[in-house]
Amino acid sequence: MKLLLVALLATLALTQALVKEEIQAKEYLENLNKEQARRTNIDTEASWAYGSNINDETEKKKNEVSAELAKFLKEVSVEIQKFNWRSYESADLKRQFKSLSKLGYAALTEADYAEFLETMSAMESNFAKVKVCDYKDNTKCDLALEPEIEEVITKSRDPEELKYYWTQFYDKAGTAVRPQFERYVELNTKAAKLNNFTSGAEVWLDEYEDETFEKQLEDIFTEIRPLYEQVHGYVRYRLRQHYGDKVVPEKGPLPMHLLGNMWAQQWSDIADIVSPFPDKPLVDVSDEMVKQGYTPLKMFQMGDDFFTSMNLTKLPPTFWEKSIIEKPTDGRDLICHASAWDFYLQDDVRIKQCTTVTQSQLFTVHHELGHIQYFLQYQHLPFVYRTGANPGFHEAVGDVLSLSVSTPKHLEKIGLLKNFVLDEEARINQLFLTALDKIVFLPFAFTMDKYRWSLFRGEVDKANWNCAFWKLREDYSGIEPPVVRTEKDFDAPAKYHVSADVEYARYLVSFIIQFQFYKSACMKAGQYDPKNPELPLDNCDIYGSAEAGAAFHNMLSLGASKPWPDALQAFNGERVMTGKAIAEYFEPLRVWLEAENIKNNVHIGWTASDKCVSY
Ligand SMILES: *[C@@H]1O[C@H](CO)[C@@H](O)[C@H](O)[C@H]1NC(C)=O
Ligand SMILES: *[C@@H]1O[C@H](CO)[C@@H](O)[C@H](O)[C@H]1NC(C)=O
Ligand SMILES: *[C@@H]1O[C@H](CO)[C@@H](O)[C@H](O)[C@H]1NC(C)=O
Ligand SMILES: *[C@@H]1O[C@H](CO)[C@@H](O)[C@H](O)[C@H]1NC(C)=O
Ligand SMILES: [Zn+2]
Repeated sequence: MKLLLVALLATLALTQALVKEEIQAKEYLENLNKEQARRTNIDTEASWAYGSNINDETEKKKNEVSAELAKFLKEVSVEIQKFNWRSYESADLKRQFKSLSKLGYAALTEADYAEFLETMSAMESNFAKVKVCDYKDNTKCDLALEPEIEEVITKSRDPEELKYYWTQFYDKAGTAVRPQFERYVELNTKAAKLNNFTSGAEVWLDEYEDETFEKQLEDIFTEIRPLYEQVHGYVRYRLRQHYGDKVVPEKGPLPMHLLGNMWAQQWSDIADIVSPFPDKPLVDVSDEMVKQGYTPLKMFQMGDDFFTSMNLTKLPPTFWEKSIIEKPTDGRDLICHASAWDFYLQDDVRIKQCTTVTQSQLFTVHHELGHIQYFLQYQHLPFVYRTGANPGFHEAVGDVLSLSVSTPKHLEKIGLLKNFVLDEEARINQLFLTALDKIVFLPFAFTMDKYRWSLFRGEVDKANWNCAFWKLREDYSGIEPPVVRTEKDFDAPAKYHVSADVEYARYLVSFIIQFQFYKSACMKAGQYDPKNPELPLDNCDIYGSAEAGAAFHNMLSLGASKPWPDALQAFNGERVMTGKAIAEYFEPLRVWLEAENIKNNVHIGWTASDKCVSY
């Protein structure tokens, strides 16, 4: 009895000491969050100066500032070890400490970290500076990916011209950086181990706070795959009609240069030659936008208007002052890949985008503004929580609005679409167009990280790195390069995010959950009713719905302060990621495609590719 009392008192004393420590820890974290925001702001300014104006001076400055921040983070991680945070009562304090204890690349030694930064700059600037010669005029050699090469890849229907640009680009954006990429993988692995992860794959997956996340993605993908194969088979069938049997084989993988996109990640730019009902109108308002004198500024103003119509936050004056929304014409090199930036002050948020006046860029504008809305919604939180519930959430916000903008209903409302009759055939055309972006993207996104996971985990022999990439692209997407590639080539870094060390599963997650968000937002807006054929999911417009806006506000204002299932629950009451909403959206198309492919005797699936040879 007495012993028990002593034990009890001892526990009490310990608890009291802990309570006292928690009070101190709280104050420590408050100061630390402020200091981190201040330092990250300086770091972000240097990155912005570099990304919008690539030269030796801005690169040097950026790397210096990053090295300084890394040094500070390392000191912090030592300090943090003095706190017994794992035993704290407060879940909030524990969560903040856990997040702060992740060091990332800053865990590397000073020399390794400096080399890492140089390696990354080399890859990023190589990607940003790629220039190729004109196919028809070999004296004109200043064509950049954005806008010249993309213009050809999306519009040309000449297989030889497309093959030429494909090869030029992959040689210069991919193969050229193989040595740097090999070093990058080594340093990535070193950093992961220093953070007590088995590899960089686990570092990336840790962001999703769920041990079974990789398996969940695989399972959802397996559910969607039959629909993907129907789309794939139908596109091959229609491409054969357009290009003939010699260019497109009946049962083989699709030659990727014919798909309207350098990486074959989305195929909507070839909708004009593959859409189900060629005589029915296809929603493409690009020409109308040009005709009506649209400018990048107007496109961003429209995006801002969409958010405010939902009672969400208006873009602050700083956004308009400091963003770059058109490609500068003064000849400087810059990273044109569209991006949204948070400077961790109040209201200093920016976008950098070489905007052109097209329908797909209008969607990109909304995508980037989704990031900005997230930044603004969580800017009241401590620094560690000023990020998405998981990386996929951040990517999904703007896309939900884009889904709405792309509907005939909305495009008519804003005067870009006129006299459009949405009958059953036009509806199938529209769903097919959306599938060319949203369904086609799923296997692409998955392979970007399955590939890098496997390299980080050391599962692929270096002598086979390039063909391992094409094998995954073949297995998951059923596509192949236009020319035979070997291990003398190296193609993965020809995708921006691979050259720039950006995790990609976020986009796969986004493309799945954005349909969960969209479906719920549409129901809240009274725009979708599964029992009412007058209110189908694929023509739902959430513009002007304060109810849908409130759901976004509830989720976005949480930032990363709670695990992502809590954030999802704040939006619509659900707690799991599921492929059900995306399947529901495309159900009418699935039914139509299956019948149509049987009717036309279309082969489903694909035979093995012989377009990569390792020796
Ligand atoms: C680009 O960077 C250079 C070197 O730091 C600087 O002199 C120049 O003013 C910058 N250009 C712009 C437009 O910021
Ligand atoms: C450029 O094209 C011309 C005409 O086709 C050809 O004679 C010449 O050799 C080419 N030059 C290069 C550098 O490829
Ligand atoms: C990794 O684990 C070792 C040994 O358990 C430990 O000393 C070290 O602090 C850990 N590092 C991090 C960054 O958690
Ligand atoms: C708009 O949002 C504000 C702040 O989130 C909220 O207080 C207000 O009730 C909302 N208005 C409507 C009409 O929902
Ligand atoms: Zn994004």
